[in-house]
Amino acid sequence: MKLIPVITIDGPSASGKGTVAARVAARLGFHYLDSGALYRLVALAASKLENPGEAQLAALAQALPARFEGDRVFLEDRDVSDELRSESVGEAASRVAALGSVREALLARQHAYCRSPGLVADGRDMGTVVFPAARTKVFLSASPEARAERRYKQLMEKGLSANLTALVSEMRARDERDMHRPVAPLRPAPGALLLDTTALTIDEAVEAVLEHYRNTRL
Ligand code: CDP
Repeated sequence: MKLIPVITIDGPSASGKGTVAARVAARLGFHYLDSGALYRLVALAASKLENPGEAQLAALAQALPARFEGDRVFLEDRDVSDELRSESVGEAASRVAALGSVREALLARQHAYCRSPGLVADGRDMGTVVFPAARTKVFLSASPEARAERRYKQLMEKGLSANLTALVSEMRARDERDMHRPVAPLRPAPGALLLDTTALTIDEAVEAVLEHYRNTRL
């Protein structure tokens, strides 16, 4: 069986993962998995339910009626791409993501992205749980202030409202929850390249990941 190269890019909220991962995938002509979007989709679909229990959320994750078309995301037939990026959905995603059975239900869907010629997978547990055998692993970080500023700019560009001080504290709370949950906590995979992007441009971060890929691929 031909080995399919997988690059995992994990890290906290607004560390630049999404942009860097998508650009690395485009440069290499690889597939791209935005695993956070799956948790966001589950959270969004769950917002229609009244007080769902864990089993109900896992069933929802298992049968998630989501479609990705280019950079648009559909839930059933509704384009939810913009709604998905809001902070409230991110917050709700981090809550459903703490449930082991929801994570389990999303595993097969994530594994299905691993197709020739290769995959760049972005999330919290790509290198530790979902693709532990990946040869190229990266853990992106940046200071909370730099991350809050990036998120602020992103939200403004999308015409969404935001408050910088609130963003810093929400970001810290989400980091805490993601790092300290018992299932698949956010932490660097063994052997991952630790890349602090506080003082790096996106292009510099992309180049650093590509160089790490060249050094670690078969
Ligand atoms: O864009 P941002 O980094 O803020 O969020 P995201 O990557 O879209 O992920 C939203 C939430 O989903 C995170 O706060 C995590 O709790 C959860 N998540 C996860 O648990 N595992 C993943 N592989 C990806 C996201």
